[in-house]
Order: sequence, then structure tokens, then C-alpha cells
Amino acid sequence: MHPLGLLPLLQSWAPEHAAVKLAIAIPSVVLLLLLHTLARSDKEHQVVPTLPLTSIGTVWPFFKNRFDFLRSGFLVTRQSVFQFNLLQNTVIAVSGELCRKDFFVCKGLDINEGFKVLSGAIPMLPGITSDLQARRIALIHKRLATVQNSDRLSNVIRYIVRDADKTLHSWGESGSIDPFSHIPAVLFQTTVRSLACHEIADDPLVVARLRNLYDRLDKSTTPASVLLPWLPSPSMLTKLYASKKVYDIVNGAIRARMTSGESRDDTLQMLLDHGDDKLVIVGFIMGLLVAGARSTGTTASWMITFIAGHPEWRRKTAEEVRTLLSDHSPEGEDCNSTVADKMTAIPLEAWENHTPVMDQIIREVLRLAQPHTAMRRNMGPETYVNGTRIPSGAYVVYPFGDVHLNPELYPDPWAFKPDRPERKLPFEYVGWGGGKTVCMGQRLAKLQLKIITALMVSTLDFKLVDRTGRLPDPLPQPNWNDALTCKPPSGSSYLQFVRASP
Ligand code: HEM
Repeated sequence: MHPLGLLPLLQSWAPEHAAVKLAIAIPSVVLLLLLHTLARSDKEHQVVPTLPLTSIGTVWPFFKNRFDFLRSGFLVTRQSVFQFNLLQNTVIAVSGELCRKDFFVCKGLDINEGFKVLSGAIPMLPGITSDLQARRIALIHKRLATVQNSDRLSNVIRYIVRDADKTLHSWGESGSIDPFSHIPAVLFQTTVRSLACHEIADDPLVVARLRNLYDRLDKSTTPASVLLPWLPSPSMLTKLYASKKVYDIVNGAIRARMTSGESRDDTLQMLLDHGDDKLVIVGFIMGLLVAGARSTGTTASWMITFIAGHPEWRRKTAEEVRTLLSDHSPEGEDCNSTVADKMTAIPLEAWENHTPVMDQIIREVLRLAQPHTAMRRNMGPETYVNGTRIPSGAYVVYPFGDVHLNPELYPDPWAFKPDRPERKLPFEYVGWGGGKTVCMGQRLAKLQLKIITALMVSTLDFKLVDRTGRLPDPLPQPNWNDALTCKPPSGSSYLQFVRASP
């Protein structure tokens, strides 16, 4: 019908042969355009399979077995995208290369809103930390960048070395420790030193209390306290209590500094000197302390566990540290100076640019022992992730295992191989995030990880043992269902150490 009417129309203003060609060409182009539009709208309205579970039935597996839950969702639906309901929330899980790219760059997807509801493991005090608006969060991020400028990081090296050395000495001259509890304690101490203030960091009892409160916060982060924060469940009350106690400690330190009028070289002073309002200062210390200490603590525990279980990497690391120490030993050095004293002389530039072995190890540990699921909420209008419609207000999650345990990108993915070829393409490695969300604490985190590892390999002889004192067989493997620490079953491996003779 359409071409028949078109020919006479064309003949009225074009030569005969051209009119015939046009009469064929135009409908073809129109048809192609139509098909293209249909294909697009079909793609845009791609039906996302929904898991056959009730909105209550998803709660437990999402919070307690997230890795298995999401993996089996992709297997069952045989799709790279599926959705489920978590109580009243719609959550869309995405996987694969194309989804990953869109997920990390999509403008409307917001990390803070995603974590607030789906993770909730951050202290929340109504009116204090729960009410941090985007403007305050942006300011906190700006201050975090200041904390990590080269001058400040250079200054904090000696404190980190001394704190770490002191804590390692508190373990005694020899013994066995659980790396997943003792090593995070070292990182907690150095994180308090770097992100809070000297008054708290200098008092081991207050540091221990704070750490204990943060552990309680982790334990009280149950599905009920996250999804129904208004419900006065026991976990919610514990969470509120622990948050309030953390607040009291931080607030007490701020008040003491302000009334003393003393000025000190720490992060609290920097925040006060900027004249930031109290919500920003409290939000900075309470939020970043826990976020920073948790991730660095977990990473350091696994770094040492892997190094202890792979003697060739322990040897390479020790060699690298020996070279660093000898390259930077001061002239006319006091022969009584300890390894820790010598380490304080290594400049920031060397820690950052002359540690290729530790860089490889950190990279591999973050691939293998970071069971993170990136969570976002679409705070903008509806958007698309690789053609899948994400309604406004919906949550989207991307499990890191999709890329980091992918055997096509990382052959034999569960093996610890720091010298595997580096994946150079964007989003083939997201250990520090990607796109518009990259870790804002990575400079400080890497520095702490390297100093603690350097100190351990140069002052302790250590090896990994099981209950019988032998090298565990198989070696411990990160538990990806434990999103916070991914530690192996308790009691399956220990670090046996003897203080090395100076
Ligand atoms: C080994 C330690 C650490 C690891 C492995 C790590 C990893 C990450 C990753 C993967 C992300 C992106 C998350 C996502 O896309 O969902 C991220 C974001 C972030 N990290 Fe870290 N992190 C570490 C330590 C720290 C420390 C010490 C701080 C602060 C002092 C910090 C502050 C942040 C912040 C503020 C963001 C959010 C960035 C944004 O909103 O755009 N991280 N981190």
C-alpha cells in the first residue's frame, strides 16, 4: 500500500528511473528504521527474570550467603541480569563485561544510598551520621584527600611504624596468633592514628574500646536492623547503643582538643583548622575510621596469610624490604637503632614507587580476598544498564566475583599468583573500584599495608600452621560469603612466629 502511493508522488518531481529507485529505497530505509526502533525498544523493555522467591525469602541469603545467592541467581536464570525483591525494595543484580562498564559509569547510580540500605554496617546516629547530605559527604571526601597529600602522609609514616612495632611487640617474643584477629588490631590502631587524633591513638584502652564497639556494630548489622531500621529490634538497639558510645568517644576528643587550645599534627587538628562544622568532623572520623580499618584489616590479614603460606613470596618481600632499608639508611647511623627506627627513614616516594613485589601482592590479594558486592541506588530518572531498565529508586548490585574470579580473565582464579599478567583493560580489575567510584583512601591504605607487611617480614620469622603445627593442606581460602572479613573457618590456620634476632 505504502509503495504504490509513493511512486506517483515521486514521479511528479523526479525522473522516471530515479523515482523507481527512490520508491524502493525509501520504504526499505523506513522499514530498517522501524525494525531498529522495535529492536531497541524490545531491548529496552528486556524482561528481567525475577527469582522465584518471596520478598522475605531473599533476605536471609542476601545478607548471609550473598556470594552463593547471587551466583546461583545467575545460574538459575541463565541471564546476566536478574531481579528480586528485598522486602519493599527492588534489587537488580547485573554481571558481565557490558553491564559492569555501564554500572560503574552510570550517573544516577549512587553508592551512598546503595550502602545505606543494603549494607548498613556504618554507625548511624539519627540527626548525626544518618543525616549527612551530599554536600557534607563531598566535604568529607575533600578532607580525606587533604589527609593523603604527600606532606601529611610523609609525616604520618613514623607514627604508623611506631604504632605497628609497639603492637607487634605486645605479641611477645614467640607464639601463635590468629592472623584474622591480631592483624586487624594493628591496622585499627594505625587507622585511628591516621584518621582521628593522638589523644585516642595514645590510649590503648580507648582504642580497644572503640574496636570492640565497632565489632558490636558489625554483629548488630542484621537483616532486621538494615532493612527495618525503624523497628526497635534487639540488633537495632545494640547498633544504636554502640553508635552512641563511639560518638561519645569521638565527641569527647573533639571537645578536649577545643578546650585545651593545643594544636597537634593530626587529622582532628586539620579538620578543626578548616573550621568544619561538627557534623562533618564527627561524620569523617566515625565513618571513615570503620570503613578504612575494616578493609585494610581484612586485606592485611590475607596478605600475611598468603605470604606465610607461600614462602617464595615471603622471601621476595623480605628481599624488597632489605633493599629499601639499605637504600635509605641514614649516614652515620646509630648502631643501636632498631629495624623500626630505620624504617621511619624510608621516604614516602620509596614506599609508593619502589615496592613492585608488595604492589603485586596487594593487587592479587584484592582480587582474591575482597568479596565485595558493589551496591547502588538509582537516584535519578529511570536509566539503563546494558539495555536493562533500572527504574528510579531501584537498587542495582554488582558482585566483584563476576570479574575477579572469572577464569577467562584470571586462569585458575582461586590460586594466589601475584605475578599473573596484569589485566590492563578498564573494568577488568576493580580492586580499588572503577569508573566514577574509586577508593578515596587508597593512598593511605597502601602505605599502611606496606609498612605493616615490611615490619612483619623483617622483624618476625613466621609461618602458617594448622592445629597440628603443620602447613595447612589445603591452604586457607577466602570465604566469599563473609563479606566483611572473608576469613577461613576459625581455628583452621594460625601464624606461628619467633622474633627475629636483630
Ligand atoms: C585495603 C583497603 C581498602 C580497599 C580494598 C578499598 C576498596 C574500595 C573499593 C573497591 C571501593 C569502591 C566500592 C564500590 O564501587 O562499591 C572503595 C570506595 C571508597 N573507599 Fe576504599 N578501600 C580501602 C580502604 C579505604 C580507606 C582506608 C578509606 C578512607 C580512609 C577508604 C575510603 C573510601 C571511600 C570514601 C570510598 C567511596 C568513594 C565514592 O563514594 O566515590 N577506603 N574502596
